[in-house]
Amino acid sequence: MPTTPRTPAFPSRLPEVGTTIFTVMSALAQQHSAVNLGQGFPDFACDPALLDAVDAAMRAGHNQYPPMAGVPALREAVATKIEAQYGRRYDPGDEITVTAGATQAILTAILACVHPGDEVIVLEPCYDSYCPNIELAGGRIVRVPLTPGSFRPDFDAISKALSKRTRAIIVNSPHNPSATIWSPEDMGHLAALLRPTDVLLISDEVYEHMVYDGRRHASASAHPELAARAFVVSSFGKTFHVTGWKVGAVAAPAAMSAEFRKVHQFNVFTVNTPMQVALARYLANPAPYLELSAFYQAKRDLFRAGLAATRLHALPSEGTYFQCVDYSAVSDLGEADFCRWLTTDVGVAAIPLSVFYAAGFDQRIVRLCFAKRDETLRLALDRLAKV
Ligand SMILES: Cc1ncc(COP(=O)(O)O)c(C=O)c1O
Repeated sequence: MPTTPRTPAFPSRLPEVGTTIFTVMSALAQQHSAVNLGQGFPDFACDPALLDAVDAAMRAGHNQYPPMAGVPALREAVATKIEAQYGRRYDPGDEITVTAGATQAILTAILACVHPGDEVIVLEPCYDSYCPNIELAGGRIVRVPLTPGSFRPDFDAISKALSKRTRAIIVNSPHNPSATIWSPEDMGHLAALLRPTDVLLISDEVYEHMVYDGRRHASASAHPELAARAFVVSSFGKTFHVTGWKVGAVAAPAAMSAEFRKVHQFNVFTVNTPMQVALARYLANPAPYLELSAFYQAKRDLFRAGLAATRLHALPSEGTYFQCVDYSAVSDLGEADFCRWLTTDVGVAAIPLSVFYAAGFDQRIVRLCFAKRDETLRLALDRLAKV
């Protein structure tokens, strides 16, 4: 008698993880023809020169495995860029690794340094991959809230959270979802706290080229003490409007990079070749990333000017392509219900800030993404004006 094939049940490694709000809201947005300002990605094309460079790279035969740590020309270009921007020279040979986006970079950094039982500090609200990544490594998540209202780092609280078991802290500036940025003084404060410890820093800087009103991005790589203990994570997807390419990079001191590469070698091994070759060529001209802040600031200003004519209160947006709004003058609904209503009845999809907190803290604030064509933003604003 043939037995019926059976899929064995097994205990989940991530029992808390379900379908993300981003998937839910995007599906709802599509169903109701809502303008999708929920998920963070551009609705406009990248520079055609970048596409031409990929095409040329493929036709020139750059289609086989590149070296494990990345195409040498791209590592060199990343090192040159960091040196020009932040004044630290990383050795492209053993201190820069090309990754499959920032997401794989962060997971790999965590798996490389976090042992079972180690503590990792995250500052809430935070990007949704950090905590599951720590859990997969067997680490213990220590959550420290950013100051409610301002979303500024609370260094007293961070100091209290540090323990003998702390292995790492994850910092993200410019910050998703609050759109705040850390100042050089904040970085100095963090350095002073970490000085007597062996705590590593995972510095998620994917929005480094989106900072507004004349501010400058305070990179961990610009701070010698922090750089000496940091995995600095960047993302070409964010910088060049190609989020689907999933190419990023990690800069870290040689000893840290060596451990990083041990894990990287056995999860992706390496990243697709033609995109790397193209990005290396494209990076020869710094204008596209140097002009990015001005490009997005114009969109931010258009969006904020429109929001001023609505009953939504726009919080500061110092960096990233996000704009948070306080809707307490409009509705008593909780954030998730408000976002559902906004999508189905108003026709604009947003993301509740509460999803970036493990315990769901409801502040009547939602996140909107302005990485959209001006006409998309105007259509959303027309709809929001009726709220
Ligand atoms: C704070 C933050 N870190 C990391 C990522 C992931 O970047 P990538 O698309 O390069 O994996 C994102 C994407 O939204 C993000 O917002």
